[in-house]
Parts: sequence; structure tokens; C-alpha cells
Amino acid sequence: MLILGIETSCDETAAAIVDSARPAGARVLADVVLSQLDEHRPYGGVVPEIAARAHIDHLDRLIAQAMDEAGLTFADLDAVAATAGPGLIGGVIVGLMTAKAIAAAAGKPLVAVNHLEGHALTARLTGDIAFPYLLLLVSGGHSQILVVEGVGRYRRLGTTIDDAIGEAFDKSAKMLGLGYPGGPALEAMARQGDPGRYDLPRPMLGRDGADFSFSGLKTAVRQTIERLGEALDEQARRDICAAFQVAVGDVVADRLGNAIRTVARPADGRRPTLVVAGGVAANGYLRQRLADLAGAEDYELAIPPQRLCTDNGAMIAWAGAERLAAGLTDPLDYPARARWPL
Ligand code: KG4
Ligand code: ZN
Repeated sequence: MLILGIETSCDETAAAIVDSARPAGARVLADVVLSQLDEHRPYGGVVPEIAARAHIDHLDRLIAQAMDEAGLTFADLDAVAATAGPGLIGGVIVGLMTAKAIAAAAGKPLVAVNHLEGHALTARLTGDIAFPYLLLLVSGGHSQILVVEGVGRYRRLGTTIDDAIGEAFDKSAKMLGLGYPGGPALEAMARQGDPGRYDLPRPMLGRDGADFSFSGLKTAVRQTIERLGEALDEQARRDICAAFQVAVGDVVADRLGNAIRTVARPADGRRPTLVVAGGVAANGYLRQRLADLAGAEDYELAIPPQRLCTDNGAMIAWAGAERLAAGLTDPLDYPARARWPL
């Protein structure tokens, strides 16, 4: 099966083609991503209107480039998949309308993909991972713990009650003057910091369930910065970053530990799998904490390659392939949705 996947729900314009031929294994034939970071950087965050316009400006060209790289025409495709939500609605409409136009013109089925399902299934594109598995989805817009039981079958164990984890990284980094997006910069600073110098809270730690909360941590970062005033030098910044990261690691390990204790282990004695997805999965410190947790809980840890953890078209093409294989296609009047829980 040859699937074109289109992703436009946030600030990445992306198109990819996946060949889902089995048993030979799926292959990514083309995968182009255009990040709009430079357009949003002056504003310190993603501006929805700018994002939507940038998707309009670039999407057609990116799709043509992906088709070219794969050596295909639209007639060769088995389906066209696009993110239909959740996300910034202007951008979602651009991608979904484009997919509908291609599907209608080429007479191919449309697959409307939930962006979160794209993240959730990516691990199966790059690894031989069977259902069910536990998923930690950590991105700029989402922090969730789910059991992925099958295509279209997701059981949510926990979610954030306020900020997403990537948002907490980005906002804290912004307060520390580290620019946008702040996650990678904060991680770099933390490497030279002393996590013990400042005491930051660990929201939800020790509580029942697997929900997250990060706004209290963000507030504590702001209060620490305000308290320091003039004394906020480079080393103090590094120490705050290190303390922040350890606090996040403690919370994630605690919440995941609770989730793990509520799910049954496979009856056949197989080691269960923990999959991590989303942009924050790039964080080396967090990866180490997750590896430690997986080891302690006797779980297999699977983290897709970084390029596929952040937003991309291949994850949408792959989710489209999985849905198509399950007989799930969508009508051409399928609506774009700003909110769409899995
Ligand atoms: O999945 P993604 O590319 O986009 C969304 O769907 O949100 O995730 C982007 C998020 C941003 O908040 C960014 O700061 C964060 O992932 N991020 C990181 C790191 N690299 C990216 N957070 C912490 N440490 C990193 N190394
Ligand atoms: Zn995403």
C-alpha cells in the first residue's frame, strides 16, 4: 500500500509517502518537513494565523517534492491521509482540504487521521511492536499516558490537567531568556547545572492515578527567578534548569509507575512495551529516567527515531496505512476538528 500523509496541525508543514507492504516491512519513501520556527520566533510562540498562511504557501510544493522523491504520481497511491485534528484549526483545514482535493481528483480513498493517533502508532512503523502497549505521549501540546490496544482503540490512563509537558519546558525556558522553542535550550543549560541548589515542586507526585500537572512547577520557576532578581546569573539559570528537569523526571516516573501498576502484564510472559512519542522524547535526561523505570518494571522501552518523534508526515501516512488496512476510510465531507480526544 502506498499512502501519502499530510501534517499541518501546528507549525510544521509536512508531507510523506509510506509503503506499508508487508511482510517485507514498511518503508518511508519520502519524508519532507518544513519547520516554521523562524516565522514564529519573533513572537516567542506559534501564531495560528501565521501558521495557517505558511501552510498554504508551502504545502503544495512539499507534496510535489515528496511525490517526486518517491518517484510516484497521485494515480499510484492507495490512499491519501491527512491530520484532521486536533490542532490549530486554520492549519488543519489547509492540510485536510488539500488531501480531499487530491483524493477526489485521483479517485483515491481519504483517511482522516487524529494527530495523536499518528504519534501513537509511529513506533510500529519503525519497530516490530505488537498491540497492546503502554504509550507516553509528551509533546508541546499533549501529555498523556495511554494503553494502545489496537488501531482506533485507545484507553487513556492519564492526561495533564493544565499545561502540556513541552509547554512547561517552553514557558520556563522563555522566563529564563532561553528563546523559543525552549526545550532543547533548557536541556543544554541543565547539563551544567546543579539540580540541588533550588527546590522546585513535583506536582501530583504520590497521588493516585496517572494525571499530570505542570502549572505549579512553572509558577515556582517564575517565583524563583523573581526572588533572585539581580542575582540571576548564568550559573543560577543553569541550576534552575537542572532542578526543573529533575522535577519533571520525578513526576513522569511517578505517574508512569502508577499507570504500569494498573495494566495487566501479557499472559504469555512476554515483556510488555513502553513506547514514548512526541517532541519531548528528545530530552536525554528524560530518556535516561524512562530507561531506568523500564528496567525496574521489567518493560521493553521503545522510542522511535527523533525525526519521527516530532511532528512529521510519515506518522500520518503510517496511521493512514494502519487505518486503511483495518478498512477505515472517511467521506470527503469529513470535518476538521480543533479538539479531538483520542
Ligand atoms: O511533538 P512536537 O514536535 O510538537 C507538538 O506536537 O507539540 O513537540 C515540540 C515540543 C516543544 O515543546 C519542545 O520544546 C519540546 O517538544 N522539546 C523538548 C526537547 N526537544 C523538543 N523538550 C525538552 N527537551 C528537549 N530536548
Ligand atoms: Zn505532535
